[in-house]
Amino acid sequence: MEKQLKLAIQKKGRLSDKSLQLLRNCGLDIENFQERLIISATNFNLDILFLRDDDIPEYVQDNVAHIGMVGENVVLEKGLDVEVVKHLGFGRCTLSLGIPENEEIQGIDDIREKTIATSYPNILKNYLSDNNINAKVIDISGSVEIAPSLGVADLICDLVSTGNTLKLNKLKKSFNILNSQAVLIKSKKLDEDPELKILFDKLMGRIDSSLKARKSKYIMMNIPKESLDRIIEIIPSLKSPTVLPLSDENLLAVHAVINEDKFWEINEDLKEAGASGILSLPIENIIL
Ligand code: PRP
Ligand code: ZN
Repeated sequence: MEKQLKLAIQKKGRLSDKSLQLLRNCGLDIENFQERLIISATNFNLDILFLRDDDIPEYVQDNVAHIGMVGENVVLEKGLDVEVVKHLGFGRCTLSLGIPENEEIQGIDDIREKTIATSYPNILKNYLSDNNINAKVIDISGSVEIAPSLGVADLICDLVSTGNTLKLNKLKKSFNILNSQAVLIKSKKLDEDPELKILFDKLMGRIDSSLKARKSKYIMMNIPKESLDRIIEIIPSLKSPTVLPLSDENLLAVHAVINEDKFWEINEDLKEAGASGILSLPIENIIL
C-alpha cells in the first residue's frame, strides 16, 4: 500500500477554514469533513487530522502527524522539538496584554507586581524576565478574558485578532508581546522516510506556488504605442511583460504579473503615462 502523508490542522477555530482553503487552492480534493476526525484527499496521498490546535505540536513532534498547520504562538508556547518550515500568511494576530477599559498603562513598568491571567505562561514569563519585570502569572486554559471581572487577575495576556473578544469583556489592548500567524511545522523524523519525503516536497511545491499567487495580481491595460518604454519602466513585473498588438494600430495591450501591494502604488503613474482600461485579476497558482 502507498504511504499517506499525515497533516494536522485545527478542528474548530480561527485557522480551520483557512487551512482547508489553502489545501484546496493547491488543487487537493477534500470533502467537507463535518464531524469526522480524519479525512483523506481523493487526489493526493494525504490524510488530514482535525485536532485541538494546542495538541498539534506534540502530535508532530511524535511523528503521529508528519506535518501540521498551527499558530506560531502555540508552537512557541509549547517549545517542542518540531521544525517550523514556512509562514503561511493567514491567521495573523498578536499576543497582547489586555487591561480593563477604564484603566491606563503608561509603560511596561506599570505592570510590576500585577497579576496577569494567560494561556501563554511560557511566552509571558520569558517576556517578563527579559524586561526585568516582576509580576504574578496565572495559568488559565480558556476564557482568560473573564479573569479581571472575576477579580482573579488585574490584566490578561491573550491572543487578539479582531479585538472583539476584548471589547465584549470590557477590556482594551495594551502592549503587544508577540506577532503571530499560521505556520507549517514538520516532524524531524519525516525525512527518514523517502516515500513521505517525496510527498512532502510535492505538497510544499504546491503550497509555495499558491502562496506566491495569493500575493500577486495579473494586470492588463491598453496603452498608446509611444508610451511603451515608460510603461515598462513603471511595471515591477515578475518577468518581462507581455505586449500585444490591438486592432487600433496606435494602441498596444500590456499584460503583467505584479505584487498585489504594488498595484495601487503604480496605478496613478500608469494613468499619467497614458494607460487606460487597467484591470487587475486574481491568480490561482504561479509555477516559477
Ligand atoms: C483566541 C483568543 C480569543 C480570541 C480573540 O482564541 O483566546 O478568545 O482568539 O480573537 P478576537 O480578537 O478576534 O476576538 P483562539 O482562536 O486561539 O482559540 P483557542 O484559544 O480556543 O485555541
Ligand atoms: Zn487553542
